Amino acid sequence: MYYWSVGTHLGQNPVAPHQKHQGLKQKEKKLPVCASQKRKRKRKNSQFVTETPRPAPSTRSPPRPAAPLPSARPSSPHSRKRRASYPILISPPFFSAAAGQRHATRLTPASDPLLTRHPEMATAAAFSVSSPAASAVAARSKVFGGVNQARTRTGCRVGITRKNFGRVMMALAVDVSRFEGVPMAPPDPILGVSEAFKADKSELKLNLGVGAYRTEELQPYVLNVVKKAENLMLEKGENKEYLPIEGLAAFNKATAELLLGADNPVINQGLVATLQSLSGTGSLRLAAAFIQRYFPEAKVLISSPTWGNHKNIFNDARVPWSEYRYYDPKTVGLDFEGMIADIEAAPEGSFVLLHGCAHNPTGIDPTPEQWEKIADVIQEKKHMPFFDVAYQGFASGSLDEDAFSVRLFVKRGMEVFVAQSYSKNLGLYSERVGAINVVCSAPEVADRVKSQLKRLARPMYSNPPIHGAKIVANVVGDPTMFGEWKQEMELMAGRIKNVRQKLYDSLSAKDKSGKDWSFILRQIGMFSYTGLNKAQSDNMTDKWHIYMTKDGRISLAGLSLAKCDYLADAIIDSFHNVN
Ligand SMILES: Cc1ncc(COP(=O)(O)O)c(C=O)c1O
Repeated sequence: MYYWSVGTHLGQNPVAPHQKHQGLKQKEKKLPVCASQKRKRKRKNSQFVTETPRPAPSTRSPPRPAAPLPSARPSSPHSRKRRASYPILISPPFFSAAAGQRHATRLTPASDPLLTRHPEMATAAAFSVSSPAASAVAARSKVFGGVNQARTRTGCRVGITRKNFGRVMMALAVDVSRFEGVPMAPPDPILGVSEAFKADKSELKLNLGVGAYRTEELQPYVLNVVKKAENLMLEKGENKEYLPIEGLAAFNKATAELLLGADNPVINQGLVATLQSLSGTGSLRLAAAFIQRYFPEAKVLISSPTWGNHKNIFNDARVPWSEYRYYDPKTVGLDFEGMIADIEAAPEGSFVLLHGCAHNPTGIDPTPEQWEKIADVIQEKKHMPFFDVAYQGFASGSLDEDAFSVRLFVKRGMEVFVAQSYSKNLGLYSERVGAINVVCSAPEVADRVKSQLKRLARPMYSNPPIHGAKIVANVVGDPTMFGEWKQEMELMAGRIKNVRQKLYDSLSAKDKSGKDWSFILRQIGMFSYTGLNKAQSDNMTDKWHIYMTKDGRISLAGLSLAKCDYLADAIIDSFHNVN
């Protein structure tokens, strides 16, 4: 078994993408490809070599600060700087300098899951070779200035871990897993809640963690109109050919029209670049990659708090972000002044991530007047509005009402990014259907933007899945089914509103402290932000078997009328008896 090791010094600036491979090439030319590679040797004292190309000044884009990355690696007691090393298995045919080089060049943050999680790894790749080859490199490194921490003529930092036995060497020992150096990732704060829920044997248990719609019997729900569309698709016997990179044309048309209104002039004028992508998350990720590539200086402003995955998405795309104030714990409402002040204070040309409706996790949306003011500030500061629309039609029950904010910005003639999801409003969670739309100032701009989005999508996932896109296109394209969908959406939104009201009634009736629970009624969408802190949320789970995220968010879509009294008891106990 041969392997790659990729090492870098954390905190060091990343090398510019177009220079990354150059650095490797230089190294590759000098690395001896020795005959010893053909001999299969089992050496316990394997050598480890790292070469970290120094960031050379980029001609295309100036260096930008690295986004905060998780530092999952303990520092080596033997290195002065903290070093992370990542063993990657490769098959024997790859084990030549040239083949290895080809393999390394394919390890881009976009395409490799390991590098996606740790993009800093992409800054360097080096052979981890057994003794003779490593000795040759060691000798070369001596010529260039000695081992470990030395700068070579190639501008590379060379380190030989013959003496540098740390965690890395453990990973190379023959009788332990090559993945010894891979630490356990923490559970996802949202999806991890469902895993804990499954493990709980109590009959009282209630899963209010994940944002997925349940029936009054707390069962998952497949919309009737979805079943109908699927049956029609089966009858037609449609094939499973690849979609183009941009997705299903009928879906792209339908989704832009749903979002902006079918008669919106920007559609007829060809100003909208729409690409079907992997639901809301994938669409956000694609947009983040676009920002990273074409606006390397810009940062994204996100609300505090926000949906837990936003920060992951921008971190992994290496897009710097900061937060604007949004939630006011004193009023359990919107901190509108704080929000405006923070957007105003951000560097001109920032991207402002806005939840189109049903803000997650707070359930607190700006009023139409407040949206106008937000648009004013964004326009004045030449910021780019970037909407995340994950709940269109699901918040109010009306597709048009829930698109108010986006349409307001578009009506002002602003260029706008919008990520869309059909997970909630059509219940297509696992089909991964959504889109990224970019409203541009001219048709040729839209064409160019679309071409670049396609270029980004191709190496990421090639092309999107067809099934969910066909369901959306068929439902929206058929007046009868479209009407049925709207009715079902109203029913779902209505059930959540009823549960919201019942929870408020139960809390108000049971809590004798005089606390005002009316904030629950002012919130909108599938969530309620209860104001419970982490300890209180823990109490909800540990004592009452109610599963929720630790920020105090509960999904009302996972609650039934019958369970409202029980939930109210748990909230009152946690709120008054736990600090
Ligand atoms: C605000 C927000 N954006 C995006 C998403 C993305 O969801 P999906 O990737 O399932 O479409 C969600 C899902 O919970 C969300 O709440």
